[in-house]
Amino acid sequence: MSSLLIKNIGLLVTPEGCEARCGKQQGKVKALENAWVYIENGEIIRVGTGLAPITMGQKLDAGGRLVTPGLVDAHTHLIFGGWRQNELAMKIRNVPYLDILAAGGGILSTVKATHAASEDELADKAGKALDEMLSFGTTTVEAKSGYGLSTAEELKQLRVIRRLSESSRLDIMSTFMGAHALPPEYKDRRDDYVNLICDEMIPAVAEQQLADFCDVFCETGVFTAEEAGRILETGRRYGLIPKIHADEIDPIGGSQLAGALGAISAEHLIVCPDAGIEALARGGTVACLLPATSFYLNSTYAPARKMIDAGVPVAMASDFNPGSCPCLNLQLVMNLGCLKYRMTPEEVLTAVTLNGAAAIACADRLGSLDAGKQADLVIWDAPDLNYLCYRLGSNLTHTVIKKGEIVHAPSH
Ligand code: NIG
Ligand code: FE
Repeated sequence: MSSLLIKNIGLLVTPEGCEARCGKQQGKVKALENAWVYIENGEIIRVGTGLAPITMGQKLDAGGRLVTPGLVDAHTHLIFGGWRQNELAMKIRNVPYLDILAAGGGILSTVKATHAASEDELADKAGKALDEMLSFGTTTVEAKSGYGLSTAEELKQLRVIRRLSESSRLDIMSTFMGAHALPPEYKDRRDDYVNLICDEMIPAVAEQQLADFCDVFCETGVFTAEEAGRILETGRRYGLIPKIHADEIDPIGGSQLAGALGAISAEHLIVCPDAGIEALARGGTVACLLPATSFYLNSTYAPARKMIDAGVPVAMASDFNPGSCPCLNLQLVMNLGCLKYRMTPEEVLTAVTLNGAAAIACADRLGSLDAGKQADLVIWDAPDLNYLCYRLGSNLTHTVIKKGEIVHAPSH
């Protein structure tokens, strides 16, 4: 038996429970001064305040710092070849994201670079990104395919995710996203590509148990809401839980579809209409918002306050990818949640912990510091949550603990 007692916690802040928190509950967190956490075999056994219990195992002095649950990044495009720094000049000239894609750049250029990379190369590159995420306080990640766009190449990406989930210190959930873009060779026969996804890719992914979720980029020039519905329904029949990139640039019905399907999450929602917000609330769908993408695309920001007021649980994630958001730092996402969405630090914390976990079907075991949950925690170089959300551009992690083990510690 291994045990760890974290003591001398100045302030412990955590959402509570095993489900997404919505409405006013999103901002209600437990805050304990002078706290301790006792962990056995990677599981939180007890959280308390005042005098810490006398235990035999390892002890860690938090030095009066802030402790929160490990951060959950519920939306990343982790596996890709190359980068797209060449698009920066176009962005500066205000060339729209969808125009770059339509010209064969954007996602399609990353598809080429991903095809050219071996599984070893992709795993090595993504592994480095995971290490960096961990150093920023992220302990769980969702990773999507979607730079393959053929059965063999999509399966290749998903195998890399599986390999990483077996070797990485982070927990990784896997999403099949063959519907990330229309391959150029299907330009005039889009139905054939949707059929390929439904008849060949999804059955293969399910057969090899390579994904937990199915996602579609529902957008002008990419996939229509009708096509997205067909793909997600097919995925569901094969045991893949539906997710959807909706209302990122144009509102073409993605959020309404998400709600109607009861999708586990809808992503982006930058231009989500009121009817979409109502649908998400009715469907119990988590709104997984990606403010660093709005920042990077120089676009507007999702109506997070309206969503919270309407009872939609809001999560926030990085969207780490080589095009619309080459950023994996959830601390920056937290800053943007406050400054751009006007969410409170408490709402923001819930968004990147418990609600993020709910968006990837892990809220029963991750996302809060409740007894019985996996011991994923961050000790921050911060006295309180306001400070963590207020400082900008520094990495405030002090120590990161994953499954009860110290996986990132200060170097000095
Ligand atoms: O979530 N919107 C679609 N997919 C990604 C971007 C991927 C890319 O540009 O390579 C996103 O923003
Ligand atoms: Fe995305």
